[in-house]
Amino acid sequence: MHFPETRLRRLRRTPTLRRMVRETALSSADLILPLFVCPGEGIDHPIASMPGVARQSVDRLVETAREAYREGIPAVLLFGIPATKDSVGSSSWDEDGVVQVALRALTREVPELVTIADVCFCEYTDHGHCGVLAGETVDNDATVENLMRQAVSLATAGADIIAPSDMMDGRIGAVRQALDDAEFSMTPILSYAAKFSSAFYGPFRDAADSAPSFGDRRSYQMDPANRREALREADLDVVEGADILMVKPALPYLDILSQIRGRYDHPLAAYHVSGEFAMIKAAAANGWIDYDRVLMESLLSIKRAGADMILTYGARDAARLLAAGWSE
Ligand code: PBG
Repeated sequence: MHFPETRLRRLRRTPTLRRMVRETALSSADLILPLFVCPGEGIDHPIASMPGVARQSVDRLVETAREAYREGIPAVLLFGIPATKDSVGSSSWDEDGVVQVALRALTREVPELVTIADVCFCEYTDHGHCGVLAGETVDNDATVENLMRQAVSLATAGADIIAPSDMMDGRIGAVRQALDDAEFSMTPILSYAAKFSSAFYGPFRDAADSAPSFGDRRSYQMDPANRREALREADLDVVEGADILMVKPALPYLDILSQIRGRYDHPLAAYHVSGEFAMIKAAAANGWIDYDRVLMESLLSIKRAGADMILTYGARDAARLLAAGWSE
């Protein structure tokens, strides 16, 4: 049957009909809010390229996390801006490191909130690369050793989920083993399975002060041209024991998200990254697009493509809109 018997517009006629046939719905339970923690007290330092996002000291971060949880957001993802950096990023596994202190405070102050700790070195190394250097390149296996230390340190400080974002080979299996050996066999791993070497991370690197001082990340993060390789990355992480898979960035990589959704029954996350958020903010500030509508359409599309969880700097805005009965 086709036109004129079939008219798809019949079911689009009224808001109620459209609501009945709507296939995807966003919920605040889908959202994860990334947060940046820095040393000090009373600090709320705005990030110019990410309006509404700030680097915060632990006291202020706890308040942000508490409000986000009240607004319906179940989890936060923590990034640290450490007091000191060195060639291997050793402040990332310091038991009094910024993220460790924040994890202890969040566990005490907002116990129901799920804390996710990003595991990587670029914020902690003086050269800005995601691991131990061997000449101009990152030494995979030496970096994996340190990832194991960092993961155990973060779990000890109270991280509910460990999220390796470095893209070293073999890291998921190694981190799983390290967690199990340290009696964290119940701590899940959210793997940045397919993380692309993306220009969309630009604002994050300002926020976290983590831009590489030379070269780029193309020898460890993925080539944006590669879809089949992304599936192999996901395959390896599944075999190595990842509990949740993630694709990053989100909107430019919905094809990857959709394929991984079809291939695995694992919970799937997508990271709507800093550049994706900054573009919406910038265009909206110019009056060129409507922030609320473009944010919600972006998140809905990410969910439609297969994400169960969405990491986004717009999580609180989205949760507030949903609580106010948002529907298009
Ligand atoms: C750390 C890390 C990065 C992001 C998340 N974890 C930066 C990078 O890989 O350069 C980017 C997040 C964003 O852009 O919002 N490796």
